[in-house]
Amino acid sequence: MVTNSRIQTTPLPTLIFCFIICIIISQIVADSQLGYGYTITTVTNNPTSNSFTANLKLIKSSTVYGTDIPFLSLTASFETKDRLRVRITDSLNKRWEIPQELIPTDSSSSSSSSLSHSFLYQNPQNSKHILTHPNSDLIFTLHNTTPFGFTISRKSNKDIIFNTLPENPLNPETFLVFKDQYLQLSSSLPSKRASLYGFGEHTKSSFKLQPNQTFTIWNEDVGSSNLDVNLYGSHPFYLDVRKGSSDGRVKSGTTHGVLLLNSNGMDVVYSGDRVTYKVIGGVFDFYFFAGSSPELVLEQYTEFIGRPAPMPYWSFGFHQCRWGYKNVSDLQGVVTNYAKARIPLEVMWTDIDYMDAYKDFTLDPVNFPLDKMRNFVDTLHKNGQKYILILDPGINVNNTYATYVRGLKADIYIKRNGINYLGEVWPGPVYYPDFLNPHSQEFWGDEIKLFRKLLPFDGLWLDMNELSNFITSDATPHSNLDNPPYKINSNGVQRPINNKTVPATSLHYGNITEYDSHSLYGLLESKATNKALVSITSKRPFILSRSTFVSSGKYTAHWTGDNAATWNDLAYSIPSVLNSGLFGIPMVGADICGFSGDTTEELCRRWIQLGAFYPFARDHSDNNATSQELYRWDSVAASARKVLGLRYRLLPYFYTLMYESNTKGTPIARPLFFSFPEDTATYEINSQFLLGKGVLVSPVLQSGATTVDAYFPKGNWFDLFNFSNSVSAGSGKTVKLDAPSDHINVHVGEGNILALQGEAMTTEAARNTSFQLVVVFNGTGNSYGQVYLDDGEAVDLEAKEQWTFVRFYGELNNTSVSVRSNVTNGKFALDQKWIIEKVTFLGIPKNERLSRIDLAESESELNVVNGMNSMKERVLKTKFDRSFEFVIVEVSNMEQLIGEEFKVETKIR
Ligand code: NOJ
Repeated sequence: MVTNSRIQTTPLPTLIFCFIICIIISQIVADSQLGYGYTITTVTNNPTSNSFTANLKLIKSSTVYGTDIPFLSLTASFETKDRLRVRITDSLNKRWEIPQELIPTDSSSSSSSSLSHSFLYQNPQNSKHILTHPNSDLIFTLHNTTPFGFTISRKSNKDIIFNTLPENPLNPETFLVFKDQYLQLSSSLPSKRASLYGFGEHTKSSFKLQPNQTFTIWNEDVGSSNLDVNLYGSHPFYLDVRKGSSDGRVKSGTTHGVLLLNSNGMDVVYSGDRVTYKVIGGVFDFYFFAGSSPELVLEQYTEFIGRPAPMPYWSFGFHQCRWGYKNVSDLQGVVTNYAKARIPLEVMWTDIDYMDAYKDFTLDPVNFPLDKMRNFVDTLHKNGQKYILILDPGINVNNTYATYVRGLKADIYIKRNGINYLGEVWPGPVYYPDFLNPHSQEFWGDEIKLFRKLLPFDGLWLDMNELSNFITSDATPHSNLDNPPYKINSNGVQRPINNKTVPATSLHYGNITEYDSHSLYGLLESKATNKALVSITSKRPFILSRSTFVSSGKYTAHWTGDNAATWNDLAYSIPSVLNSGLFGIPMVGADICGFSGDTTEELCRRWIQLGAFYPFARDHSDNNATSQELYRWDSVAASARKVLGLRYRLLPYFYTLMYESNTKGTPIARPLFFSFPEDTATYEINSQFLLGKGVLVSPVLQSGATTVDAYFPKGNWFDLFNFSNSVSAGSGKTVKLDAPSDHINVHVGEGNILALQGEAMTTEAARNTSFQLVVVFNGTGNSYGQVYLDDGEAVDLEAKEQWTFVRFYGELNNTSVSVRSNVTNGKFALDQKWIIEKVTFLGIPKNERLSRIDLAESESELNVVNGMNSMKERVLKTKFDRSFEFVIVEVSNMEQLIGEEFKVETKIR
């Protein structure tokens, strides 16, 4: 009764009022929804290009972050059997995409034409459209749901690798959203089985991506000592290594890669069971790389983005740099002290100190005068050493500065509001060359050429190319480029996109906005510099760039930027180096001993122990940090001699890994799961890495530690400093290793053959020492290794047959051990007269017969030697290793030409 009376008494105006409020609220709710997704209208099969195109229609408009684009087109295509592309664009209007000249994506130029045709299969209920290819493991399925979604799965094991179906109950965060300045796409992941790596550039404590993190991708000049923020480079690429499924269908280690080729700013939100892209421009252009091993993904990824540039042999030597060398005698002093301390120094660098008032292509006439600098560089060259200098992109606005004037004449600077944009960097006011302008190549190349005529430097260091600007322009309220509706970098302290860079409304050649092309600057500059150096020197260039983008590895090496002299930064350098390898930039290292802040003797010692095994090994420090050249502390110097000694012995191995990178894209420094993908314990490792397939580096990363807990994947491992120390890891285990203050643990794994050379003060001298083969047998008595040899500086590898490639095969059976070689293009190595002096066989298990070997290192005649052209008396030694588990057999005093095929075999009693 009471209720009734209440209803009866509700006045009409109140009802109307409630009704209006409800409408307003529902409007607000609707407006706060990002989007409503799209449905499929038509699907057109295009079997001649292995693709189909679906037309998509917006379900309902929303206004959050701008209005939606009503009609989209989605094209799925097999570009190769291992590369599937999914492109979603505005059907009616062309949008910004990375220029073809920079990163070619045009599928007509890819190998898709060689693919036989795919089929489009439409199931009877018309709810799915499926694109498959007879030679591909990938299947693309378009789901005619509301909203629509697509999935990518594997034929071989039915695993779904990418899944954009909207979450149920419908969750708008999982819908496709496509507005002018906000694009969103989300894929669910099997959180217990997917391990993700990539999305750079960031400093992370963990190499494997941790859930509930946002990865902002937008180039920025932020010191890499800052954790979890976007840094200098943009790489919207990830590797997904799957653990096996409980039903056994999926094998652990099955890996695929995903690239979103887009240069606009973005946040990638990773929750563990989902990865969501929130991008502020461009289009969705996804590439799925089938793998199915980590190595194969890298091969497929770099086949698409470009293989890493070949690096000169000398660049694998040790480099010394510092911001703050005051004059030429400072530089000379450093070089002399390295020589005195008997620490190898290959390359001496100068930071901005050498310039006249920080102007590129000039020399400080007082402290770094031309005659003295020339003398200095000539002396380095005479001693087999090299010289590298820094260049910043900002050209000082100064009418008395010839470079500036020439740039002005060529009209190649970045513009804003119709005039050259005025920024500020070290020299004060600057204009920035616009490397999207085709005339910039000539301008930049000519400046480099002119300067190199004065001072014959050997490589260039490209800094501040994010593009860094000391002015942060205020966002103009009317411009949604300077101030886009969705703010990337939603992580922590939000930094606007114009933070410390050229404003987004600046214009490049062809009216391309900074907003769209910002993150391409470092790539463009590296490309132009590479081209210039090749044409000037006719030699393989060495370039070190701070800023990078997808495909930068084709032109440049990279260092991880401004780290700090802390133990944490030492540890984080491992994920950073490994990431660069995943991004196709394998020539990478962190500033050894730490860039900013004062290092300590202990930290610097541990850092050179690790840094000696970075692909790129350079000590560099800030101008207000204490000096940290390796000779400054006796204990650091002693350690440096020891670890750089091993590095120099490993030079042929490093160089061959560089060759492998250049031909296949596999990184030089690799995560353990590259060689042991089936071992899920390797997925979590942050503190160790592999060089190539089989050299395991297990550094000390904590102050005061004298042991290290190292994980050894399956098999037997042998200490490279002392072959007598071995670790038998069985099927994989963590071992506590001694790591006294002067020691880093470096092991070679079973199944590998290393071709080492001798220690020396320069790479040139090291190349004149004889080779030693280290043959490590695996459980089935086999081993393999290879070495690539050339002059170390020809522009292209494998050019004009001026190279030799040698494969080594080891075999252990009941009665003998042997190693034989197979040589391609032996002439080059024969001309150099390189010889193998020694072969050491490791991993021979002690057994009944072998236990009778005389432990007193008995010298006896080598039982069998085939194919050796020397008359010299060979020496055979056998002994047990320290664990008494293995026998070491050493054949020395050989003079076997490496360019000649041979077999060394010796009976084991
Ligand atoms: C920033 C670079 O990251 C650093 O390595 C360099 O020393 C300074 N700029 C000065 O050029």
